[in-house]
Amino acid sequence: MTSDQPTPDRIMHLVNGYWATGILGAAASHSLFTHLEAGADTAGGLADRSGISERGAQTLLDGLVGIGLVELHDGRYRNTAEASTFLVEGKPTSLSEFAKLKMTHMAALADLPEVVRAGGPIRAATVEVADNPHWKKVVTAIAPQSVPVTAIVAELLGLADAGEISILDLGGGSGIFSAAWLGLNPAARATQLDWAPINAIARRLVAEQGVADRFTCIDGDFHSTELAAAAYDVVVYSHVAHQEGPEDNTALLAKVRGALRPGGTLVICDYVVDDDRSGPSFSLIFAAEMLLKSRRGGTWRRADYLAWLAKAGFEDVTFHPTPSPTTVILAR
Ligand SMILES: C[S@@+](CC[C@H](N)C(=O)[O-])C[C@H]1O[C@@H](n2cnc3c(N)ncnc32)[C@H](O)[C@@H]1O
Repeated sequence: MTSDQPTPDRIMHLVNGYWATGILGAAASHSLFTHLEAGADTAGGLADRSGISERGAQTLLDGLVGIGLVELHDGRYRNTAEASTFLVEGKPTSLSEFAKLKMTHMAALADLPEVVRAGGPIRAATVEVADNPHWKKVVTAIAPQSVPVTAIVAELLGLADAGEISILDLGGGSGIFSAAWLGLNPAARATQLDWAPINAIARRLVAEQGVADRFTCIDGDFHSTELAAAAYDVVVYSHVAHQEGPEDNTALLAKVRGALRPGGTLVICDYVVDDDRSGPSFSLIFAAEMLLKSRRGGTWRRADYLAWLAKAGFEDVTFHPTPSPTTVILAR
């Protein structure tokens, strides 16, 4: 067989792609990355520390080597740099809770053939339901994903030295942007608009950072809640655009435009698709998640954002890819 002939190897991996979700989720459930980081480096040692069987530990280690998250040197295991940064518990960037959560979402994907036929969710749409308990689990699990992004935006906007600024986070979830920026700038104040049970989570997490005295929450639906006019220097719209359809995004962005002070900046963070729909791969694939879970959501192209922002009255728009799947869009 010559090297340019197709082989079934990649397709066998894709067909069984849920193995990776399961192995990663099970390893995270038993804190394997955390124990590896602390020095356990054999199946026996990991089994002892995590209270699982040695056969189970060896199987997970084999799988983790197979998916490239653990390395084997002279019979000893260790985290790759990637696993060490993003899967060890307690690190601000740790996605281990997210890995556990996604394992519980696997079965829902079996609906996808019917969902694509129907053109939308065939069960109660998740993102449109007020106070859906879904969000309680999701917002804390995805917060670490935004940690590097909060630092990138803070740098782009010079937030640490911006003095007495007022920040609004629409659908702020865990409050991760407020927590990070209030920590950087002791004169800043932040407000988050989200459902009441989610704001309760955000208040707790922001308080853990010691900045709760400058953090306010508005409980409610961001579609129907009025925003104070010309009241904010920075408005955040992070991982919200993908759950909304074009009309709602345009309406929400226009509302945000009215809430910004002259010279203020809108910060959109989302999985943005190239105009010719050729990439990036994470953004393209994530659209299936929104088809499954939202009536009108999707992953939107740069051209879509530009059109909505122009309609909403923004004139100066820039796109900033980040090392994560998230693109930052700044609009003034
Ligand atoms: C995907 S999460 C994003 C959270 C946060 N912005 C981030 O980037 O980590 C979406 C957030 O929007 C909130 N949300 C969704 N629909 C909403 C609505 N109609 N009104 C208020 N909040 C809403 C959810 O509760 C959740 O906190």
